[in-house]
Amino acid sequence: MAGGKVDQKTPPGWPGQVWLEGKTLVHLLDEQTRPTHMPRGPAKRTGPGFLNPAMAPARTRSVLLLNDAMQYDWLVREDQSIRVLDALCATGVRIRRWRNEVPSSVQQRLRITANDLDQFALDWAKASHAMHPPTQSIEHEPEDDRYGSTSEQVFDNGLDFRNKDARIAMIESGYQWIDLDPFGSPVQFLDAALQGLSRTGVLEITATDTAALTGSSASSQARRYGAKGIVDVYAHDDAVRLLLATVATSAARLDKSITPLMALFDGHHVRISCLVKTSREKASEISRLIGWRVREQDIPYRFVQHPTPEQVERASGPMWIGPLWDKEIAGRMTEQKVLELCQPSQQELEQMMQQGLEWSDDDIEYSARELKRSVRYISDAADLMSREHLLLNLDSLPRWAGVGGAPKLEKLISSLISSGHCAARLPDLEPLLVTDAPFDTVLEHVRKTSPSSK
Ligand SMILES: C[S@@+](CC[C@H](N)C(=O)[O-])C[C@H]1O[C@@H](n2cnc3c(N)ncnc32)[C@H](O)[C@@H]1O
Repeated sequence: MAGGKVDQKTPPGWPGQVWLEGKTLVHLLDEQTRPTHMPRGPAKRTGPGFLNPAMAPARTRSVLLLNDAMQYDWLVREDQSIRVLDALCATGVRIRRWRNEVPSSVQQRLRITANDLDQFALDWAKASHAMHPPTQSIEHEPEDDRYGSTSEQVFDNGLDFRNKDARIAMIESGYQWIDLDPFGSPVQFLDAALQGLSRTGVLEITATDTAALTGSSASSQARRYGAKGIVDVYAHDDAVRLLLATVATSAARLDKSITPLMALFDGHHVRISCLVKTSREKASEISRLIGWRVREQDIPYRFVQHPTPEQVERASGPMWIGPLWDKEIAGRMTEQKVLELCQPSQQELEQMMQQGLEWSDDDIEYSARELKRSVRYISDAADLMSREHLLLNLDSLPRWAGVGGAPKLEKLISSLISSGHCAARLPDLEPLLVTDAPFDTVLEHVRKTSPSSK
C-alpha cells in the first residue's frame, strides 16, 4: 500500500470496494452496489460516504475545464497558482481526480482545498488520498486566509482538507475556483460562493432539484427561484437558463457579472460553469440577458425581455437568454482530449489491479465509452451554443412541418449544413437540434428529409 504523510483515522467500513472513475481509484462503501458504466438518474443513496456514479460525467468535464484554464491561461497568468475549493467534497472523488488527471506539468500551480461537514465522508476522502496519493509529490506552503491567519490544516501531498460548514469555508479564503455540488438546490450556498470567489473566478454548480428548476413543482420554483415554468420540450433548457439567471442576479447584487462557460441538463441534474468577474458596469448590463421564453404560433418560441400580459400564460421565466457556452473552451471538450486526460494506460491499470481493482476487458471498453459520452456532441455544438440559436426537439417537428414522421436527426443536420447553415445535436436524452437556420428553413429541410415525404 502506498502511504501518504498524514496519519489519519481509518473510517468505519474502510476499505470497502475499489472502483475506477477516470483514472482515479475510488473506494465505495461495501453496501453500495457496484456501479454500472452507464448509470442514469438519481441513484439510491446508502447514507454518508455514498458516491453517485451518475455524476461521473460532470466530474470528468470538471477535470477538463480546470485543465483548460491552466493550459490556456484564461483564468490566471501562466506563472500564477490557482486556489481551487470543492466546498461539498463528500468522499473527495472530484478533488482527487483534479489531482490525478490534470497533467503533472501544471499540478504545482494548483492549490486544492476539500471541504465537507460530514466527518465520515471526509475521513473516507483522506483515507483514499493517503492510500492512492498522486504520482507526483505536491508541496507548497499553507495559504493565508482573508483575515491574515495562516491555515492550520495539515497538507497531505497537496490537498488541504477542511471540516466546516461550506458557507464558512468559502468565505474564509479568496478562491479562484469553487465547486458547489450539494444535495438538491444550491441556493443556500450561492451568496457565500460568490463572495468567496476572488475578483475573477470560476463557479461550477450542480443542482439536482430539477422539479423546482423545470417547473414541475411550481410552488418550489416560485419560492426558490422566483420563476414560473412550463413543463414542455423546453423544460430542460429552461431549467439551465433559470439557474444561470439566479446566479447572474445574485452576482449582480454583489457587483459581479457572469459569463457562462458550459451549462447542461444532464439526465437528472443541471450543471453550470461560469466565469465570475467583479465589475459594476458589467453587472449592471446583465439585466439585458435576463428575459422570458414565450411559446408562439409561427415558431416554437421567442425570447423577450418582458412578456406582455397576453404572453405571460405562454411564457416561462425569468431566465438567462444569453449564450450558454464559451465557444473556444467547449470546442476543446473533445473525445480525444477526454481520453488523453482521463483514460488510464495499460501500465497504470496493471498497477491499479495490484491495488485491489478488479477490472475486466469489458470494464476497460465500457469506461472508455463512458468517458467519451461525457463530452459527446459538445465540441460540435460549441459554436452555436455560444451565440444566438434556435433549439428544436426533433419529435415536435413533424407536426410543425405537416409530415407524418421525423427524419433522422443526423440526416436533418447534414441537410442544413449542406445548404450553408450551422446545425448540431445537443447532449441530452431527448433528440435536440440546435441551429442558426430560420425556423421556416428548418421546416423545409424536415419536409425534404422526412421518411414520409418519399
Ligand atoms: C452531493 S454530495 C457531494 C458530492 C461530491 N461533490 C462528489 O462529487 O462526490 C453533498 C455533500 O454536501 C455535504 N454537506 C451538506 N451540507 C453541508 C454544509 N452546510 N457544509 C458542508 N458540507 C455540507 C454532505 O455531507 C455531502 O457530502
